[in-house]
Amino acid sequence: MSGRALTLYYEEPPLPFKPATRALFEFTSPTRFPLSLFDEELAKHVKKCRDDVYARVSYPCLGLYRFLEPGSRENPVYTQAIECIKQQPDTRRILDMGCGYAQDIRAWIQDGVPSTSIVGADLLLDFVEDSFELFADEKGKDHMYGVKFEHCDIFDEDHVNKVKELSHGGQGFDVIYIGSFLHLFEWSEFARESESIMRWKIQAADVQGRVFRAYTRADAQAQVARALSNLLSNAPGSLIFGRQSGMPPGQAGHYERHHRTGAMGGNSQAPWRHDPDSFIRLWQDEARGRQQLQGSGGWEVKPVLPNPAFNWAGFKDKDVQELSRKDLVQAFGTGLEFQIIRK
Ligand SMILES: C[S@@+](CC[C@H](N)C(=O)[O-])C[C@H]1O[C@@H](n2cnc3c(N)ncnc32)[C@H](O)[C@@H]1O
Repeated sequence: MSGRALTLYYEEPPLPFKPATRALFEFTSPTRFPLSLFDEELAKHVKKCRDDVYARVSYPCLGLYRFLEPGSRENPVYTQAIECIKQQPDTRRILDMGCGYAQDIRAWIQDGVPSTSIVGADLLLDFVEDSFELFADEKGKDHMYGVKFEHCDIFDEDHVNKVKELSHGGQGFDVIYIGSFLHLFEWSEFARESESIMRWKIQAADVQGRVFRAYTRADAQAQVARALSNLLSNAPGSLIFGRQSGMPPGQAGHYERHHRTGAMGGNSQAPWRHDPDSFIRLWQDEARGRQQLQGSGGWEVKPVLPNPAFNWAGFKDKDVQELSRKDLVQAFGTGLEFQIIRK
Protein backbone atom coordinates (compact mmCIF):
# COMPACT_ATOMS: atom_id res chain seq x y z
CA MET A 1 0.00 0.00 0.00
CA SER A 2 3.00 2.33 -0.44
CA GLY A 3 2.79 3.31 3.23
CA ARG A 4 -0.47 5.16 2.69
CA ALA A 5 -2.62 5.29 5.77
CA LEU A 6 -5.67 3.08 5.50
CA THR A 7 -9.02 4.72 6.06
CA LEU A 8 -12.50 3.63 7.00
CA TYR A 9 -13.05 3.39 3.27
CA TYR A 10 -10.49 0.62 2.77
CA GLU A 11 -12.00 -2.85 2.84
CA GLU A 12 -11.17 -6.45 1.97
CA PRO A 13 -12.92 -7.92 -1.11
CA PRO A 14 -16.59 -8.66 -0.37
CA LEU A 15 -16.77 -12.47 -0.41
CA PRO A 16 -18.61 -14.38 -1.66
CA PHE A 17 -18.86 -12.27 -4.82
CA LYS A 18 -22.36 -11.62 -6.10
CA PRO A 19 -23.41 -13.70 -9.14
CA ALA A 20 -23.62 -10.48 -11.22
CA THR A 21 -19.99 -9.66 -10.37
CA ARG A 22 -18.83 -13.13 -11.37
CA ALA A 23 -20.88 -12.90 -14.57
CA LEU A 24 -19.31 -9.53 -15.46
CA PHE A 25 -15.77 -10.88 -15.01
CA GLU A 26 -16.65 -14.02 -16.94
CA PHE A 27 -18.02 -11.80 -19.70
CA THR A 28 -14.87 -9.63 -19.92
CA SER A 29 -12.48 -12.60 -19.92
CA PRO A 30 -14.02 -16.07 -20.01
CA THR A 31 -10.62 -17.78 -20.11
CA ARG A 32 -9.11 -15.83 -17.22
CA PHE A 33 -12.21 -15.65 -15.03
CA PRO A 34 -14.34 -18.72 -15.76
CA LEU A 35 -17.22 -19.25 -13.34
CA SER A 36 -15.31 -22.31 -12.09
CA LEU A 37 -12.51 -20.06 -10.75
CA PHE A 38 -12.61 -19.90 -6.96
CA ASP A 39 -13.83 -16.59 -5.53
CA GLU A 40 -10.63 -16.41 -3.47
CA GLU A 41 -8.49 -16.46 -6.64
CA LEU A 42 -10.52 -13.68 -8.24
CA ALA A 43 -10.38 -11.76 -4.93
CA LYS A 44 -6.55 -11.85 -4.92
CA HIS A 45 -6.47 -10.41 -8.43
CA VAL A 46 -9.08 -7.76 -7.72
CA LYS A 47 -7.38 -6.67 -4.48
CA LYS A 48 -3.97 -6.38 -6.14
CA CYS A 49 -5.36 -4.24 -8.98
CA ARG A 50 -7.37 -2.11 -6.53
CA ASP A 51 -4.39 -1.57 -4.20
CA ASP A 52 -2.12 -0.47 -7.06
CA VAL A 53 -4.60 2.23 -8.02
CA TYR A 54 -5.71 3.13 -4.47
CA ALA A 55 -2.11 3.91 -3.54
CA ARG A 56 -2.26 6.70 -6.12
CA VAL A 57 -5.83 7.91 -5.80
CA SER A 58 -7.80 6.91 -2.71
CA TYR A 59 -11.37 7.25 -3.87
CA PRO A 60 -13.78 5.59 -1.42
CA CYS A 61 -15.46 3.79 -4.33
CA LEU A 62 -12.15 1.98 -4.89
CA GLY A 63 -11.55 1.25 -1.22
CA LEU A 64 -15.07 -0.15 -0.92
CA TYR A 65 -14.96 -2.16 -4.18
CA ARG A 66 -17.91 -0.22 -5.62
CA PHE A 67 -16.55 -0.97 -9.09
CA LEU A 68 -17.54 -4.64 -8.66
CA GLU A 69 -21.22 -3.72 -8.90
CA PRO A 70 -21.95 -1.29 -11.73
CA GLY A 71 -24.09 1.39 -10.07
CA SER A 72 -26.07 2.29 -13.19
CA ARG A 73 -27.83 -1.10 -13.08
CA GLU A 74 -29.34 -0.26 -9.69
CA ASN A 75 -31.11 2.86 -10.96
CA PRO A 76 -34.84 2.30 -11.68
CA VAL A 77 -34.43 3.98 -15.10
CA TYR A 78 -31.61 1.65 -16.17
CA THR A 79 -33.56 -0.63 -18.50
CA GLN A 80 -35.26 2.34 -20.19
CA ALA A 81 -31.90 4.11 -20.58
CA ILE A 82 -30.13 1.24 -22.30
CA GLU A 83 -33.19 0.26 -24.38
CA CYS A 84 -33.24 3.83 -25.75
CA ILE A 85 -29.72 3.28 -27.14
CA LYS A 86 -30.31 -0.31 -28.28
CA GLN A 87 -33.37 0.72 -30.32
CA GLN A 88 -31.42 3.19 -32.50
CA PRO A 89 -27.75 2.25 -32.13
CA ASP A 90 -26.72 4.06 -35.32
CA THR A 91 -27.69 7.47 -34.06
CA ARG A 92 -28.08 7.32 -30.29
CA ARG A 93 -25.12 7.65 -27.95
CA ILE A 94 -24.55 7.12 -24.23
CA LEU A 95 -21.80 8.84 -22.22
CA ASP A 96 -20.27 7.73 -18.91
CA MET A 97 -18.83 10.98 -17.48
CA GLY A 98 -16.20 10.28 -14.81
CA CYS A 99 -16.17 6.66 -15.95
CA GLY A 100 -13.27 5.59 -13.70
CA TYR A 101 -12.73 1.84 -14.10
CA ALA A 102 -15.43 1.77 -16.81
CA GLN A 103 -17.27 -1.08 -15.12
CA ASP A 104 -20.60 0.46 -16.09
CA ILE A 105 -19.54 0.63 -19.73
CA ARG A 106 -18.68 -3.09 -19.64
CA ALA A 107 -22.02 -3.85 -17.97
CA TRP A 108 -23.90 -1.96 -20.72
CA ILE A 109 -22.09 -3.99 -23.37
CA GLN A 110 -22.85 -7.19 -21.46
CA ASP A 111 -26.50 -6.07 -21.41
CA GLY A 112 -26.56 -5.63 -25.19
CA VAL A 113 -25.67 -1.98 -25.86
CA PRO A 114 -23.53 -1.83 -29.01
CA SER A 115 -20.02 -0.75 -28.00
CA THR A 116 -19.88 1.73 -30.88
CA SER A 117 -22.66 3.73 -29.20
CA ILE A 118 -20.66 4.23 -26.00
CA VAL A 119 -18.29 7.01 -24.92
CA GLY A 120 -16.36 7.17 -21.64
CA ALA A 121 -14.75 10.39 -20.37
CA ASP A 122 -12.57 11.02 -17.34
CA LEU A 123 -10.03 13.44 -15.95
CA LEU A 124 -7.76 10.46 -15.22
CA LEU A 125 -7.69 8.11 -18.17
CA ASP A 126 -5.19 6.05 -16.14
CA PHE A 127 -8.23 4.48 -14.50
CA VAL A 128 -9.38 3.25 -17.89
CA GLU A 129 -5.89 1.91 -18.69
CA ASP A 130 -5.82 0.13 -15.33
CA SER A 131 -9.26 -1.34 -15.99
CA PHE A 132 -7.86 -3.48 -18.80
CA GLU A 133 -5.68 -5.25 -16.25
CA LEU A 134 -8.56 -5.58 -13.80
CA PHE A 135 -11.01 -7.02 -16.33
CA ALA A 136 -8.33 -8.78 -18.42
CA ASP A 137 -9.68 -7.44 -21.68
CA GLU A 138 -8.12 -5.24 -24.34
CA LYS A 139 -8.68 -1.72 -25.55
CA GLY A 140 -10.35 -1.67 -28.97
CA LYS A 141 -10.74 -5.46 -29.08
CA ASP A 142 -13.63 -7.92 -28.75
CA HIS A 143 -16.41 -6.43 -26.61
CA MET A 144 -14.39 -3.21 -26.11
CA TYR A 145 -14.15 -2.65 -29.86
CA GLY A 146 -15.70 0.68 -30.77
CA VAL A 147 -15.89 2.22 -27.29
CA LYS A 148 -14.39 5.70 -27.37
CA PHE A 149 -12.54 7.09 -24.36
CA GLU A 150 -11.74 10.77 -24.09
CA HIS A 151 -9.70 12.69 -21.57
CA CYS A 152 -11.93 15.38 -20.08
CA ASP A 153 -11.80 17.86 -17.27
CA ILE A 154 -15.48 18.75 -17.01
CA PHE A 155 -14.52 22.33 -16.08
CA ASP A 156 -12.64 22.82 -19.34
CA GLU A 157 -14.95 23.99 -22.14
CA ASP A 158 -12.62 22.74 -24.90
CA HIS A 159 -12.51 19.27 -23.34
CA VAL A 160 -16.28 19.21 -23.01
CA ASN A 161 -16.72 20.25 -26.64
CA LYS A 162 -14.34 17.48 -27.76
CA VAL A 163 -16.42 14.93 -25.87
CA LYS A 164 -19.59 16.34 -27.41
CA GLU A 165 -18.14 15.83 -30.90
CA LEU A 166 -18.21 12.09 -30.15
CA SER A 167 -21.99 12.13 -29.98
CA HIS A 168 -23.92 11.52 -33.21
CA GLY A 169 -23.38 14.57 -35.44
CA GLY A 170 -22.03 16.44 -32.40
CA GLN A 171 -25.66 17.00 -31.37
CA GLY A 172 -25.22 15.80 -27.81
CA PHE A 173 -25.73 12.52 -26.01
CA ASP A 174 -29.13 10.90 -25.60
CA VAL A 175 -28.17 9.45 -22.23
CA ILE A 176 -25.45 10.46 -19.75
CA TYR A 177 -24.54 8.43 -16.67
CA ILE A 178 -22.73 10.04 -13.70
CA GLY A 179 -21.76 7.67 -10.91
CA SER A 180 -20.20 9.06 -7.70
CA PHE A 181 -19.34 12.21 -9.61
CA LEU A 182 -21.28 15.38 -8.73
CA HIS A 183 -20.66 14.87 -5.03
CA LEU A 184 -16.94 15.38 -5.62
CA PHE A 185 -17.57 19.08 -6.02
CA GLU A 186 -18.53 22.10 -3.97
CA TRP A 187 -21.87 23.91 -4.19
CA SER A 188 -23.15 26.94 -2.42
CA GLU A 189 -26.58 28.40 -2.87
CA PHE A 190 -25.15 31.70 -1.72
CA ALA A 191 -22.81 31.63 -4.72
CA ARG A 192 -25.84 31.97 -6.95
CA GLU A 193 -26.53 35.36 -5.49
CA SER A 194 -23.02 36.72 -5.42
CA GLU A 195 -20.35 36.12 -8.01
CA SER A 196 -17.84 37.59 -5.56
CA ILE A 197 -17.97 34.50 -3.41
CA MET A 198 -16.68 32.39 -6.27
CA ARG A 199 -13.34 31.48 -5.04
CA TRP A 200 -10.09 29.81 -5.48
CA LYS A 201 -8.93 27.19 -7.82
CA ILE A 202 -5.97 25.28 -6.55
CA GLN A 203 -3.17 23.34 -8.02
CA ALA A 204 -2.58 20.02 -6.40
CA ALA A 205 -0.39 17.07 -7.02
CA ASP A 206 -1.17 13.42 -6.49
CA VAL A 207 1.39 11.12 -4.93
CA GLN A 208 2.97 10.49 -8.32
CA GLY A 209 3.65 14.17 -8.65
CA ARG A 210 1.31 14.80 -11.55
CA VAL A 211 -0.53 18.04 -11.30
CA PHE A 212 -4.29 18.21 -11.30
CA ARG A 213 -6.52 21.14 -11.10
CA ALA A 214 -8.74 20.72 -8.11
CA TYR A 215 -11.79 22.85 -7.63
CA THR A 216 -13.00 24.45 -4.50
CA ARG A 217 -15.09 27.07 -6.25
CA ALA A 218 -18.35 27.52 -4.50
CA ASP A 219 -20.24 27.13 -7.77
CA ALA A 220 -18.44 24.00 -9.00
CA GLN A 221 -21.58 21.80 -9.07
CA ALA A 222 -23.43 24.53 -10.96
CA GLN A 223 -20.64 24.53 -13.55
CA VAL A 224 -20.80 20.75 -13.82
CA ALA A 225 -24.58 20.90 -14.29
CA ARG A 226 -24.12 23.44 -17.11
CA ALA A 227 -21.46 21.28 -18.78
CA LEU A 228 -23.67 18.18 -18.56
CA SER A 229 -26.58 20.12 -20.01
CA ASN A 230 -24.33 21.19 -22.88
CA LEU A 231 -23.28 17.57 -23.45
CA LEU A 232 -26.87 16.31 -23.48
CA SER A 233 -28.99 16.34 -26.62
CA ASN A 234 -31.61 19.11 -26.76
CA ALA A 235 -34.30 16.56 -27.61
CA PRO A 236 -37.00 16.35 -24.93
CA GLY A 237 -36.69 13.11 -22.98
CA SER A 238 -32.88 13.08 -23.08
CA LEU A 239 -31.68 11.70 -19.77
CA ILE A 240 -28.95 12.15 -17.16
CA PHE A 241 -29.00 9.50 -14.46
CA GLY A 242 -26.75 8.36 -11.67
CA ARG A 243 -26.09 7.86 -8.01
CA GLN A 244 -23.94 9.48 -5.37
CA SER A 245 -23.81 10.18 -1.68
CA GLY A 246 -26.71 12.21 -0.32
CA MET A 247 -28.42 13.21 2.91
CA PRO A 248 -31.87 12.62 4.40
CA PRO A 249 -34.44 15.43 3.85
CA GLY A 250 -33.52 18.70 5.53
CA GLN A 251 -29.90 17.75 6.10
CA ALA A 252 -28.22 18.90 2.89
CA GLY A 253 -25.06 20.84 3.39
CA HIS A 254 -21.32 20.86 3.55
CA TYR A 255 -19.75 17.89 5.15
CA GLU A 256 -16.13 17.43 5.98
CA ARG A 257 -14.34 15.06 3.70
CA HIS A 258 -13.53 11.92 5.66
CA HIS A 259 -10.94 10.91 3.18
CA ARG A 260 -8.30 12.46 1.02
CA THR A 261 -8.25 11.70 -2.66
CA GLY A 262 -5.28 12.30 -4.90
CA ALA A 263 -7.45 13.70 -7.66
CA MET A 264 -8.87 16.33 -5.38
CA GLY A 265 -5.38 17.08 -4.17
CA GLY A 266 -5.90 16.22 -0.50
CA ASN A 267 -7.30 19.69 0.09
CA SER A 268 -9.68 20.36 2.91
CA GLN A 269 -12.69 21.39 0.89
CA ALA A 270 -16.04 20.24 2.14
CA PRO A 271 -18.19 18.90 -0.69
CA TRP A 272 -21.92 19.49 -0.74
CA ARG A 273 -24.14 16.51 -0.02
CA HIS A 274 -27.60 17.03 -1.43
CA ASP A 275 -30.88 16.00 0.02
CA PRO A 276 -33.68 15.57 -2.56
CA ASP A 277 -34.80 19.24 -2.34
CA SER A 278 -31.37 20.81 -2.75
CA PHE A 279 -30.66 18.45 -5.65
CA ILE A 280 -33.81 19.69 -7.40
CA ARG A 281 -32.79 23.32 -6.73
CA LEU A 282 -29.38 22.75 -8.33
CA TRP A 283 -31.06 21.70 -11.59
CA GLN A 284 -33.78 24.36 -11.39
CA ASP A 285 -30.98 26.94 -11.23
CA GLU A 286 -29.33 25.44 -14.29
CA ALA A 287 -32.63 25.61 -16.17
CA ARG A 288 -33.26 29.20 -15.06
CA GLY A 289 -29.81 30.25 -16.27
CA ARG A 290 -30.40 28.64 -19.65
CA GLN A 291 -33.85 30.16 -19.99
CA GLN A 292 -32.32 33.62 -19.48
CA LEU A 293 -29.55 32.99 -22.01
CA GLN A 294 -31.25 30.88 -24.65
CA GLY A 295 -34.95 31.14 -23.93
CA SER A 296 -35.14 27.42 -23.31
CA GLY A 297 -34.65 25.21 -20.31
CA GLY A 298 -36.51 22.91 -18.00
CA TRP A 299 -35.87 19.59 -16.31
CA GLU A 300 -37.95 16.94 -14.67
CA VAL A 301 -35.75 15.98 -11.71
CA LYS A 302 -36.38 12.79 -9.77
CA PRO A 303 -34.05 12.34 -6.81
CA VAL A 304 -34.65 9.25 -4.69
CA LEU A 305 -33.11 8.20 -1.42
CA PRO A 306 -33.41 4.47 -2.13
CA ASN A 307 -33.64 3.69 1.55
CA PRO A 308 -32.87 6.12 4.39
CA ALA A 309 -30.56 3.56 5.96
CA PHE A 310 -28.92 2.68 2.64
CA ASN A 311 -25.44 1.53 3.45
CA TRP A 312 -23.66 3.97 1.16
CA ALA A 313 -20.41 3.99 3.11
CA GLY A 314 -20.34 0.23 3.56
CA PHE A 315 -20.78 0.37 7.34
CA LYS A 316 -19.66 -2.76 9.10
CA ASP A 317 -21.09 -4.16 12.34
CA LYS A 318 -18.00 -2.92 14.16
CA ASP A 319 -18.66 0.66 12.98
CA VAL A 320 -22.29 0.49 14.03
CA GLN A 321 -21.29 -0.66 17.51
CA GLU A 322 -19.11 2.40 17.94
CA LEU A 323 -21.44 5.00 16.52
CA SER A 324 -25.20 5.08 16.17
CA ARG A 325 -26.53 4.62 12.64
CA LYS A 326 -27.75 8.24 12.76
CA ASP A 327 -24.20 9.39 13.51
CA LEU A 328 -22.89 7.25 10.67
CA VAL A 329 -25.34 8.80 8.23
CA GLN A 330 -24.31 12.25 9.51
CA ALA A 331 -20.67 11.40 9.01
CA PHE A 332 -20.79 9.57 5.71
CA GLY A 333 -24.12 10.33 4.09
CA THR A 334 -26.72 8.07 2.60
CA GLY A 335 -27.27 7.10 -1.02
CA LEU A 336 -28.98 9.30 -3.61
CA GLU A 337 -30.20 7.96 -6.95
CA PHE A 338 -31.51 10.35 -9.56
CA GLN A 339 -32.93 10.91 -13.00
CA ILE A 340 -32.80 14.31 -14.71
CA ILE A 341 -34.94 14.44 -17.83
CA ARG A 342 -34.90 17.22 -20.44
CA LYS A 343 -38.38 18.71 -20.88
C1 LIG B 1 -15.47 8.45 -7.43
S1 LIG B 1 -14.94 8.10 -9.07
C2 LIG B 1 -16.38 7.33 -9.78
C3 LIG B 1 -16.05 6.38 -10.91
C4 LIG B 1 -17.24 5.66 -11.54
N1 LIG B 1 -18.13 6.60 -12.19
C5 LIG B 1 -17.99 4.83 -10.52
O1 LIG B 1 -19.20 5.03 -10.34
O2 LIG B 1 -17.37 3.92 -9.93
C6 LIG B 1 -14.98 9.71 -9.76
C7 LIG B 1 -14.39 9.78 -11.15
O3 LIG B 1 -14.51 11.13 -11.60
C8 LIG B 1 -13.31 11.52 -12.23
N2 LIG B 1 -13.16 12.98 -12.13
C9 LIG B 1 -12.81 13.73 -11.06
N3 LIG B 1 -12.77 15.04 -11.37
C10 LIG B 1 -13.13 15.12 -12.67
C11 LIG B 1 -13.26 16.21 -13.59
N4 LIG B 1 -12.99 17.45 -13.20
N5 LIG B 1 -13.65 15.95 -14.86
C12 LIG B 1 -13.90 14.67 -15.27
N6 LIG B 1 -13.76 13.60 -14.45
C13 LIG B 1 -13.38 13.82 -13.17
C14 LIG B 1 -12.23 10.77 -11.45
O4 LIG B 1 -11.02 10.68 -12.17
C15 LIG B 1 -12.91 9.44 -11.20
O5 LIG B 1 -12.68 8.51 -12.20
